[in-house]
Amino acid sequence: MFTPKILVMAGSLRSGSHNGRLAALVTKELALAQADVTRISLADYPLPLLDADYLADAGPPANAVKLAQMLTAHQGVFIASPEYSASVTPLLKNAIDWISRVRERNEPAYAAFKGRVFAIGSASAGAAGGVRSLIALRQILELGCGALVIPEQINVGRADQAFDDMDNLKDENLAAALKAMVRRLVELASVMPRAAE
Ligand SMILES: Cc1cc2nc3c(=O)[nH]c(=O)nc-3n(C[C@H](O)[C@H](O)[C@H](O)COP(=O)(O)O)c2cc1C
Repeated sequence: MFTPKILVMAGSLRSGSHNGRLAALVTKELALAQADVTRISLADYPLPLLDADYLADAGPPANAVKLAQMLTAHQGVFIASPEYSASVTPLLKNAIDWISRVRERNEPAYAAFKGRVFAIGSASAGAAGGVRSLIALRQILELGCGALVIPEQINVGRADQAFDDMDNLKDENLAAALKAMVRRLVELASVMPRAAE
């Protein structure tokens, strides 16, 4: 086993985002679990809305290539995914679609999604905690991109009241489920192949 590199991101750019808060908590727990964590914001990788004509003419933009390289440099990924209209946000879907079109020379298709392990979570002010977003995201990652997504996932319902002043989860069972998800992510990321350094 070695110290796995794990990438964390959220599918929201909103100030005060519940999913940003969830991503911050998972980042903290991953660090406590001895992972080497990198948290990014999709705000730093602006992308046009994917248009297949644009893709055919110009290929993926530089930020899509950078995001694909970020994924490739990590053995594990956690995505905090808000729920919009019972699915993922357009921000997240657009980023995934662009990354899926990046293909460096000699790389197989969807290379950024393979050879690493994903965990997913969602936070919503609604009682169900964005579970439908996670159903959609699991389908996109697994069926669309060929990724391995662990079964442990975290749904933070009533997210506006779910965190305490220290940004930890108030509900003990939910906090334990989050830690279990983090442990499994670290465990599996530890046995993933390392990119050449
Ligand atoms: C267009 C739109 C659609 C939404 N649809 C849902 C929904 O289907 N289910 C839900 O629980 N919340 C829904 N919401 C509420 C968001 O989940 C909520 O604003 C959440 O806080 C967004 O995540 P964030 O706090 O990380 O930005 C929707 C919000 C927007 C703007």
